Amino acid sequence: MSAAPERRPGGGVLLLSGADQVVPCTTVDPDGVLTGAAVAIAGGRISEVGEAGDLRRRFPDATETTLAGGVLTPGLVDSHTHAVFGRTRADEYALRASGVPYMEVARRGGGINASVRDLRSRSEDELVDIALPRLRECFSYGTTTIEIKSGYGLDTRSELRTLAAIDRIAGAVPQRVVATFLAHEVPPEHASDRGRYVDLLVEEMIPAAAEQGVARFCDVFCEPGVFDTEQARRILLRGQELGLEAKLHADELENGGGAELAAELGAASADHLGAISPAGVEALAAAASADEPTVATLLPATLLFLGRGAYAPARALLDAGATVALATDFNPGSSPTPGLPIVLTLACSQMHMSPLEALVAATSGGAAALRLDDGIGTLAEGAPADLVWWRVPDYREIPYHVGVNRVGRVWVGGEVVVDRSDGRAATSAVTASIRSR
Ligand code: NIG
Ligand code: FE
Repeated sequence: MSAAPERRPGGGVLLLSGADQVVPCTTVDPDGVLTGAAVAIAGGRISEVGEAGDLRRRFPDATETTLAGGVLTPGLVDSHTHAVFGRTRADEYALRASGVPYMEVARRGGGINASVRDLRSRSEDELVDIALPRLRECFSYGTTTIEIKSGYGLDTRSELRTLAAIDRIAGAVPQRVVATFLAHEVPPEHASDRGRYVDLLVEEMIPAAAEQGVARFCDVFCEPGVFDTEQARRILLRGQELGLEAKLHADELENGGGAELAAELGAASADHLGAISPAGVEALAAAASADEPTVATLLPATLLFLGRGAYAPARALLDAGATVALATDFNPGSSPTPGLPIVLTLACSQMHMSPLEALVAATSGGAAALRLDDGIGTLAEGAPADLVWWRVPDYREIPYHVGVNRVGRVWVGGEVVVDRSDGRAATSAVTASIRSR
């Protein structure tokens, strides 16, 4: 069904033509990739996708942008990031390069708690000012929807300040931003009584986050040595009770039954899964047919950066029927990468996903992991006109050029928000005031 092409005041129908390929990302079947197609956009949405000559006849008054070949895809959906943080952790990277494992760095006072000490010393204004240029970098790689977690505050005030900063960022950028409250670690002041910290989360922090009204999801780092499965269940059930949908950092480094817990709770996603068990794969495959599936969100850049040498079993998950998303996990400790294209490369080279499976996982898969309906993550009639034009002749070249940014132009709601069509990065200015509301 075609949406009626509504006319905007001072604007009209925009026709994007000339792309070598248009990839709708509604199917992983390569036959779904269109050639000779154009996209008609009106009122910020895609009103039609079809043969270019046909669309020109149907919309004779349209403004036409003729692209110099290239590939059009939906905007990328990065459904798992920790993009609001202060300083980087390159110091501990050097330590890890010398052979000290991630969890051992954390035990020595580095890791998540190092970012917590840093974030607690910063004001909301500072957090916004530091995060915005980083986010512009994320957006330059084609991300048009991004999830951002709290979790470097770990006390009520610092968590609420992080969420308030995320909310201000959401108001200052054209890209779509989704906020998540994350129970990320037990802070040093509660190290001697970890159970008491879970009580605090359940009794005070999660209710305060729900009351603030910024976060849509509640997430927990469910991993042996951090929060165990029973603690994670308690945290997520409390979130659900207060209207926050569940997400889990599950089975990242060691198996703890996190994937099974995600499926049991009807979580929106189980993320990481580097150490998922066969029973976990089965649980997520079964959960894919639920009304609202639990998505398996894979974050291979993290396992690359941590030097683990083994990746989540993407093939087993896909072949069993699970819904798979790919995301960056952008954070200062285990994945300092702002862009999804390298994640697509890892998905294909290390996890044996096809280039189209990877692209679908980073678009409509990500939208499913964020429970966004409305067509986000697809280039299809009725969806928001969030698009990326890639300077490659074939979609398979998006993951193929390892670590190269081939994004030419990005639209959100039909407006150009990133223009690198001359090969240089030039992102649109952030116009809204970010200082105060
Ligand atoms: O998703 N696993 C927990 N959290 C992050 C790491 C955060 C950090 O090291 O700062 C992750 O990998
Ligand atoms: Fe994470």
